[in-house]
Amino acid sequence: MANLKTNVNSNILISDTMNLDRKRGSYMDKQVYTDYFFDEPAFNTHDGGYVALETPTTQQTPLAIPALAVPDSETVHEVSYTITAQESSAQLLPGKRTKTWGYNADILGRTIILQDGQDVHITLKNQLPELTTFHWHGLNVSGPIIDGGCHAPVYPGKSSKIDFTLHQQAATTWLHPHPCPSTAEQVWHGLAAAVIVKDKHEASLHLPRNYGVDDIPVVLQDRRFHEDNQLNYRADYDPDGVQGPTALINGTVNPYFDVTSQRLRLRLLDGANRREWRLHFSNDLPFTQIAGDGGLLPDAVDLTHLMITCAERAEIIVDFSQYHAGDEVVLYSDDTPLIHFRIHDFKADPEPLPTHLLDIQAPTVDPATPIRKVVMSGMDESVMLDGKKFDMQRIDAEQPMGQAQYWDITNTNDMTGGMVHPFHIHGTQFLVISRNGHAPYPNEHGYKDTVGVNPGETVRILVRFDLPGIYMYHCHIIEHEDGGMMAQIESYDTSKPQPTYKLMDMETLSKAFAAERGIPVSELWMAGMDSYAKMGMKM
Ligand code: C2O
Ligand code: CU
Ligand code: CU
Repeated sequence: MANLKTNVNSNILISDTMNLDRKRGSYMDKQVYTDYFFDEPAFNTHDGGYVALETPTTQQTPLAIPALAVPDSETVHEVSYTITAQESSAQLLPGKRTKTWGYNADILGRTIILQDGQDVHITLKNQLPELTTFHWHGLNVSGPIIDGGCHAPVYPGKSSKIDFTLHQQAATTWLHPHPCPSTAEQVWHGLAAAVIVKDKHEASLHLPRNYGVDDIPVVLQDRRFHEDNQLNYRADYDPDGVQGPTALINGTVNPYFDVTSQRLRLRLLDGANRREWRLHFSNDLPFTQIAGDGGLLPDAVDLTHLMITCAERAEIIVDFSQYHAGDEVVLYSDDTPLIHFRIHDFKADPEPLPTHLLDIQAPTVDPATPIRKVVMSGMDESVMLDGKKFDMQRIDAEQPMGQAQYWDITNTNDMTGGMVHPFHIHGTQFLVISRNGHAPYPNEHGYKDTVGVNPGETVRILVRFDLPGIYMYHCHIIEHEDGGMMAQIESYDTSKPQPTYKLMDMETLSKAFAAERGIPVSELWMAGMDSYAKMGMKM
């Protein structure tokens, strides 16, 4: 990150921790961070509508490890997948099975593996009773069609195909639906899958990568189970984000995991609609964060506590060397146990983890380039982005392709009583430059696509689009994005005439949803519509 320094305005403080981190390899005493970094008064536990997690009373069951998606064909240079969004049911609690949706699975989805440099061909099949889209959150692919935002519906019984060449470093990204304004409800039904990008550099490092054994995705979600163990999104609806008291980890209630290696790599994903996870292990066992949303951090960071906001990912390595067969280590969020790690015999791995992981070259910013201001305001139905609610037909901003630009993302919520809004941009990975002029948190020096913004805070990020297209950007509390806290930007190739894009419109989507549900449009209820209606605004 050294060259970040020269690019940042002189009023930005360069962090001590940044320098410390860089030099840490030479320190005998490793620095271990012990706080969550985010502003405590903004934690979701202070929300009026906060739903506390309950400690499960059902029997511990093995943590589900999503199966790997099987490619239709694969070579080093090319891979084809068929991804089917389907209706199903899953045994989540004793008794009745819960009706769920999933990608090639009963719930969540099979994990998709892609390699940097591959030509990727994906057939998207919709076997749900209603339209959906397939959004590749965190992949460097172009919008508005390939990235699967609201402009790319696949209707029930239909399929479509996307093709792209992936240029991206190793990272944990994910797939989820994005049909406006019903993203939140479709995610609540169970649609979400891990998409793991691999590359040569990551493969050369001494890190655990035996999928399902010492390298596992951990999708953190929460749900409320109603009568007969069923989900009822509308009954639980809250415009500030739907929550439930039961933690669901990879679709498992009250999971345990059998540890058979000294080190375990957890690819944590906050796949919840609204919940923040404040993670820590029993006995404050320190762990090492090696990656964020967009891949490896420049330097590994040692922590005892980690907070992730909606859609964020963190890859951590937990070292169980001080434990023995028969011991148990518990992962908590606040005070609620999430996963019980049952320690078994393992082979000692004396080789230390790498401390320097990745060289990051921040792109140079032309000082003449203005700083883009983005404002997230409101709570409940009043949420807006730049004082407006999202309009699929409106392009809110433009940025030349390949040009790096600072974006200042402001959360105008009150510092007392406000909330952290996780800000996300499609189709790119950005760098976090500063928070209110101060250094970013020690564990956010890598590429990111989602950043939590505290109330009263302005987070400066450095954004570049490498592909032309239309990209949505929004709060990732999913009810907030459905409720209109979202906008879209066009990235264009300055050497070519600007293309015109065919953008989706609300009328087409609501007619389709109504027809699929067999009701007149006037009876259609979709969470996001409510927010517009209550504000007297047209969708
Ligand atoms: Cu997770 Cu608009 O995306
Ligand atoms: Cu996204
Ligand atoms: Cu928000």
